Amino acid sequence: METGTLLKTQNILSVRDLHLQNKRVLLRADFNVPMDADGTITDDARIRATLPTIEFIRKAEARLILCSHLGRPKGKKSAKYSLESVGRRLAELLTCEVMVPDDCIGDAAIHLIANQRPGQIVLLENLRYHPGEEANDEDFARKLADLCDIYICDAFGCVHRAHASVAALPRLVPMRGAGLLLERELEVLSKLMTSPESPYVALLGGAKVSDKIEVIESLLPLVQGLVIGGAMAYTFLAAQGHDMGKSLVEKDHLGLAKHILARCEEKGVAVFLPVDHTVVAEVKAEAPHQVKVTADIAPDDIAVDIGPATIELFTQVLAGHHPQMQTPPRTILWNGPMGIFEMEPFATGTMAVARAVAQSTATSVVGGGDSVSAVQQAGVTPMISHISTGGGASLEYLSGQPMPGIQALRGGRR
Ligand code: 3PG
Repeated sequence: METGTLLKTQNILSVRDLHLQNKRVLLRADFNVPMDADGTITDDARIRATLPTIEFIRKAEARLILCSHLGRPKGKKSAKYSLESVGRRLAELLTCEVMVPDDCIGDAAIHLIANQRPGQIVLLENLRYHPGEEANDEDFARKLADLCDIYICDAFGCVHRAHASVAALPRLVPMRGAGLLLERELEVLSKLMTSPESPYVALLGGAKVSDKIEVIESLLPLVQGLVIGGAMAYTFLAAQGHDMGKSLVEKDHLGLAKHILARCEEKGVAVFLPVDHTVVAEVKAEAPHQVKVTADIAPDDIAVDIGPATIELFTQVLAGHHPQMQTPPRTILWNGPMGIFEMEPFATGTMAVARAVAQSTATSVVGGGDSVSAVQQAGVTPMISHISTGGGASLEYLSGQPMPGIQALRGGRR
């Protein structure tokens, strides 16, 4: 789809459609970045992903005000969740002054914005210091609306939340639109839902089937292959009658797993489940581990990663070298790790899959915080067609669920 067409069909203006010069532009970004115990940002990908929109607004000579949430401070001010380190990172990346008032609303913010000089950026403090943010409170949203003339949303990672800064606020600002990152995310993900190139293989991992059920349902009419790894695979294997020992099996969802397998058969979707596993007696990085085929899993075994035969199987499928998938996929969606990849000894499967996705000539889309980190750890980021900044948001979007932050952008005025 041509750039901008998707937004037009949804009656959403792009930041490129608005007259920004000398206007106070409030940009809702998703700067919810991981930090270590000292407050040092460990991955600034979400900040970098917003830079094109920031640069665009700055070039247009607008007065830029940024806002975001960080973590879950539960409506209370807490230094641990301050956006100050994000402000410092932005200042380094943009080589400009970024001022962070100690509250997103109130006198300090009003004063800073009123005295903002050209080139300076104001980054409002964590929106979630106020309970009104998560409550989608109209009064809180109005206080934010009073700070700006134009509202732009680039926070794809949050558009599935009915929170004030993405849902109530845009409706209070007639001149509103989507940022460049949000536009790109919507274009890529909507193509996956409407016109993906075949063969299309979805590779799903992570802990729970229950988290992925909606996305699986909406993928079934579109994909030719479904590759399942991570702990959710154990529920599928248990549903097929295998004893998975003490591995994480969602016993309440065995019926659901059976239903998905039956639907795949009905639709002619080839399903690939792990055939061997790295198993341990306790989940500790230093625990002794061994590889076992599914049939050999003992009552005390805990599976924590896919084994070498499964890596080979999944790699063959992704390369189009499998009897059931003889043509290389032209579209690959990957969401969710193959094992407990945070523990280095159990990261082998996830890393191998990251490399297999990267080596494919398919349009590859990776979503979900863990898969994105895995791609980075494997050093293959540049070989992925699109890395989504949304974890939950990308899954909900692909499930076809209504997105409050996108609906609220509709009908903006120039
Ligand atoms: C994310 O990290 O997925 C988004 O920033 C949303 O954060 P949340 O899950 O705390 O709402």
